[in-house]
Amino acid sequence: MTFPATARADHELGVNAIRRARELTEPVLRELVDRLGPSLGGIGRYHFGWWAGGSGAAGKALRPTLAVLAAEAVGAEAVDAVPAAAAVELVHNFSLIHDDIIDNDELRRGQPAVWKEYGVPAAILIGDALHSEAFGVLLSSGHPGAPAAAMRLATAMREVVVGQVDDIRFTARPWTGEQAVSVAEYQAMAEAKTGALLAFSAAGGALLGGAEAAVADCFDRLGRHLGLAFQCTDDVLGIWGDPVRTGKPVFGDLREGKRTLPVIAALAAGGAASERLGVLVERGVRTDFELRLAAELVEEAGGREFAEQEAARHLAEVEDCLTSLAMPAETRGSFDALAQSLIGRSR
Ligand code: IPE
Ligand code: IPE
Ligand code: MG
Ligand code: MG
Repeated sequence: MTFPATARADHELGVNAIRRARELTEPVLRELVDRLGPSLGGIGRYHFGWWAGGSGAAGKALRPTLAVLAAEAVGAEAVDAVPAAAAVELVHNFSLIHDDIIDNDELRRGQPAVWKEYGVPAAILIGDALHSEAFGVLLSSGHPGAPAAAMRLATAMREVVVGQVDDIRFTARPWTGEQAVSVAEYQAMAEAKTGALLAFSAAGGALLGGAEAAVADCFDRLGRHLGLAFQCTDDVLGIWGDPVRTGKPVFGDLREGKRTLPVIAALAAGGAASERLGVLVERGVRTDFELRLAAELVEEAGGREFAEQEAARHLAEVEDCLTSLAMPAETRGSFDALAQSLIGRSR
């Protein structure tokens, strides 16, 4: 497959931004995890893939990259964003470790989730440690923007836990009828559980880059829409993604009765496939046959297309935010590449 010259150049900008963010952030994370000592630190190194036999893949580094780009966008150096980049990657990983317990997911980044490998108590504790280290790394940096960034991170974390609890509580609701979870309720939940941390990534990076609060707010909006586009895509990958690429269990969301956007939209669509899906999910989707059938009915009822369109709509909002923020052309190109890669991603 060949790309037009400009698209290829943009793609390279995105790859370079991720590399820059990783190179600056990973040594900080490794040092912090090592400081947790041999037992807890060992669990941390396992989670990040830093162990003999580990995948070595600590994740896509989307949040640190956003922080670095936001700092560069306001005229600072990538290195200025490092306390925010490291802090957000720490809380993100804390939230993933706890999320896999909550979601009963046994696989994360292609290896057994921490709770599966070390047990639930250890997974809770390494999560707790990463959470407090996040605030430690930010506040100990001595950066003049750090206290304001730490406050934003605290607010973002409040949003994340509220989003997570809504995500769980939705599973106790009926699938169909008046009490069913609506698309609007889904959006508020997804904005909280995922959008808030991406919002912090961009706003925190801008603050450490010396931006005023009002400018940081624009980056917050950008990150929030990016987070929503990201979560819509995550929901699609949770049903139609290749588990070898995502590193997560196939059909995990459907099996756990998660109210993901494709399913909510398919159930709200009406029509024959939607009604058959309603009957199926009310009964409970357990066997491989039922899971595959549910996925087919979601697609037939238009749930996949709806979620993909929603992702595209949020990306258009991201582009709007980018246009309203003056920044060097190269930084803009990097943001564009990062945003585009989220929609077309397979992991
Ligand atoms: C997964 O986030 C959790 C969601 C918010 C959907 P990522 O897909 O960014 O996780 P890693 O860090 O790349 O593994
Ligand atoms: C991710 O939620 C949000 C947080 C971890 C806070 P999901 O449960 O949808 O993400 P994955 O699919 O497990 O990565
Ligand atoms: Mg999960
Ligand atoms: Mg979850």
